[in-house]
Amino acid sequence: MTYPPGPNENPMLVMYRWIRRPFELLERAKAGYGDVFTLPLPFAAPASHEAGESVKLVAVSDPAIIKEIFALGPEDVHAGEANVVLKPFLGKHSLLLLDGAPHLRHRKMILPSFHGERMLAYGRTMIDLANDTIDRLPVGRPLRAHAPLQALTMQIIVRTVFGVDEGPRFAELASLLTRELDASAWPGLIFPMLQRDLGPLSPWGRWLRLRERTSRLIRTEIARGRASTRSGRTDVLSMLLDTELTDDEVHDELVTLLVAGHETTATSLAWALRWVLPNRKLVGELREEIESARGDPAKIAKLELLDCTTKETLRLQPVIPMVGRVLQEPMRVGAWDLPRGALVAPAIYLVHRRPDLYPNPTAFDPKRFLAFKPAAWEYLPFGGGLRKCVGAAFAIYEMKMVLATLLSRVEMHLASPRVRVARRSITLTPSGGLPVRVTSVRQVA
Ligand code: HEM
Repeated sequence: MTYPPGPNENPMLVMYRWIRRPFELLERAKAGYGDVFTLPLPFAAPASHEAGESVKLVAVSDPAIIKEIFALGPEDVHAGEANVVLKPFLGKHSLLLLDGAPHLRHRKMILPSFHGERMLAYGRTMIDLANDTIDRLPVGRPLRAHAPLQALTMQIIVRTVFGVDEGPRFAELASLLTRELDASAWPGLIFPMLQRDLGPLSPWGRWLRLRERTSRLIRTEIARGRASTRSGRTDVLSMLLDTELTDDEVHDELVTLLVAGHETTATSLAWALRWVLPNRKLVGELREEIESARGDPAKIAKLELLDCTTKETLRLQPVIPMVGRVLQEPMRVGAWDLPRGALVAPAIYLVHRRPDLYPNPTAFDPKRFLAFKPAAWEYLPFGGGLRKCVGAAFAIYEMKMVLATLLSRVEMHLASPRVRVARRSITLTPSGGLPVRVTSVRQVA
């Protein structure tokens, strides 16, 4: 058994590069070693594997091999094991951390809340909240676009997932959850050695205290939901309370939906603005198309150019650049016989930049999706197989509702044409929070 070759560097240095410049690390390794390469990581292998070994990550950007990986079953590969660094943040019952039968059981109960047709129930709320955000945008003054987008995606989750719309409870939940997620955004906190409570001013201590408060609020919402009739309610919490999940399980799943669904969508929206705004021809074409939908969520969801624009944003700028699977048995992956415990990682970012699939891959060109309908292993911003993001339809729907509302009402420009990639926790965001300038806002009639 041999691992594919890769940069022979100190695992700590690789981790540092992964946090600071992940795309550069992936591109260099691919240029040097091809479609399958190994990166050493400074984490001990899980207890069930070779004692004393550190984890080796095998990055894969060959779509044919990714097709095979996504077809593997829960007895062959574990994704929860690959996400173990998230455990302190999400809780042990989180869908992202479970594997095998418990994962399938939870997934079956969560999926119905996110089926495509359920999105229609959320569309109006998404547009209304986007309009409220737009009404508060500062005109003529510099603005970091990521912040209001983040506040907006949080409000959308609090309404649609938690079902909270009563004024003070809504504001308290949204603001406390935002503070907690902000406190956990520093990438250093994923290292167990930095997870020390050195009082309320230390990063971990501050986060722990906020988590206690948010946890109490979430449990209050669960108790409130259990005590009410819930008839006519369309939020995800109500649906979860109708399953056999316990309160502890519902708690951890709510935290998971919040963490997995809030920052990812806000950041993808910021990337969409980063690429759309400088392209005035595209802005004009999108506005014309959006106008034809007359604010109807079902029609907006079906707009072709808007659909291609969200797809292209998630292709060029996937906020999660890789997903991981830990092999449960020795296995042949491509030309390599890998041992049990190897971490195999479909490299979303590298697949999305393959010139054989996406000619001129660094260009933002939404219309490429008019002609090319990629397979699930050629376009994978939401991962794939049995672990594919449960919120994919929700996220795409939300991106369309928010972009359509923003573009139809707001005239906005990038403050600077130079935008780099920065890291916020597990996601990759535009640097500086994407500085923009709003020049005018159209009032709704
Ligand atoms: C643009 C926004 C989003 C992106 C790019 C994204 C991306 C991803 C990715 C790459 C995975 C891992 C898939 C794999 O291992 O194959 C994932 C999993 C997951 N996502 Fe998302 N996501 C987004 C939005 C959301 C939303 C809105 C929700 C829910 C409200 C959500 C909930 C989840 C959950 C619960 C999982 C775990 C699924 C499982 O392990 O079975 N995500 N997402």
